[in-house]
Amino acid sequence: MNTILTGDRPTGKLHLGHYVGSLKTRKEMQDDPNNNLFVMIADIQALTDNAKTPEKVSSNVLEVALDYLAVGLDPKKTTLFIQSQIPELSELTMYYLNLVSVGRVRRNPTVKSEIEQKSFGEGVPTGFFIYPVSQAADITAFKANLVPVGEDQKPMVEQTQEIVHSFNSTYQKVLVEPKGVIPDKGLGRLPGIDGNGKMSKSLNNGIYLADSKDIVDKKIMSMYTDPNHIHVQDPGKVEGNMVFTYLDVFAQDKAYVQELKEQYQKGGLGDVKIKRYLIDVLDEVLTPIRARRQELAQDPQYVMDLLKDGSLAAEKIAAQTLDEVKTAMGINYFH
Ligand code: TRP
Repeated sequence: MNTILTGDRPTGKLHLGHYVGSLKTRKEMQDDPNNNLFVMIADIQALTDNAKTPEKVSSNVLEVALDYLAVGLDPKKTTLFIQSQIPELSELTMYYLNLVSVGRVRRNPTVKSEIEQKSFGEGVPTGFFIYPVSQAADITAFKANLVPVGEDQKPMVEQTQEIVHSFNSTYQKVLVEPKGVIPDKGLGRLPGIDGNGKMSKSLNNGIYLADSKDIVDKKIMSMYTDPNHIHVQDPGKVEGNMVFTYLDVFAQDKAYVQELKEQYQKGGLGDVKIKRYLIDVLDEVLTPIRARRQELAQDPQYVMDLLKDGSLAAEKIAAQTLDEVKTAMGINYFH
């Protein structure tokens, strides 16, 4: 039996990069009866760099929940919950903070590069600086043994392992050491439609699960291909051509994609033609997701109620762990 915990910061709707990088795997994990899956909307973590604009976070909680349900995460099988509704997570964070030195958080490579990327102006918020410790609380509260995350989250899992060791050796063996599961999708991260690095909201190069067919078709038509492939009869490049990159990921008929590639490289195959094919391929993936999303979006109260139920169930488990933690530390005074 595996206990799996993962989550997303609610700072925007989820896109195809999330779909291939994590959502698809989560759905598969959910459907394996040996797994107990927890998926968390990490609003506390999102607030660590959005404290002055909390509505940017709160307004995206429902959007992310809609994306989860649309791709087939099923609240009957998976506990879907909101981080801020589990106060035990913040309490655990306080105790764990004393087991981690300032020097150690400063060395976390992901936090380090995020601090460089984000222009924090007057200073790095302390909550942002220590978010890996809060993430350790998320993971250990559920005694998760597996944490499926992207490459950039590996340092968070390592830091959690250190906290678990430190806690278990200092007090009592209460916490479970988690293992990171990095998706080995061959491709790694899906690049954006402009071919400029990964798909991301800040680069404005994403195809969203919530996008209408019209918008998706337009985005595909504007995709980065081979800038030197000007006339249909010109030989074209397949490497770095986003249409082929996406076809490699999403098309079922690999032999046909291979045929198209050869034709394109020889010359005689136009961009519009390959884009039209990608439109069909992505249509097949996105139409059922979009339909489910639109239907659920009609009833936000129903979705929020699901999250409330999930949060109540999650809190029970976190409260049990917190109780064990306090007992191990000898601070359960009124027991
Ligand atoms: N840091 C993750 C991200 O940015 C979100 C997250 C918060 C998370 N807590 C977690 C992921 C615990 C896995 C486990 O996407």
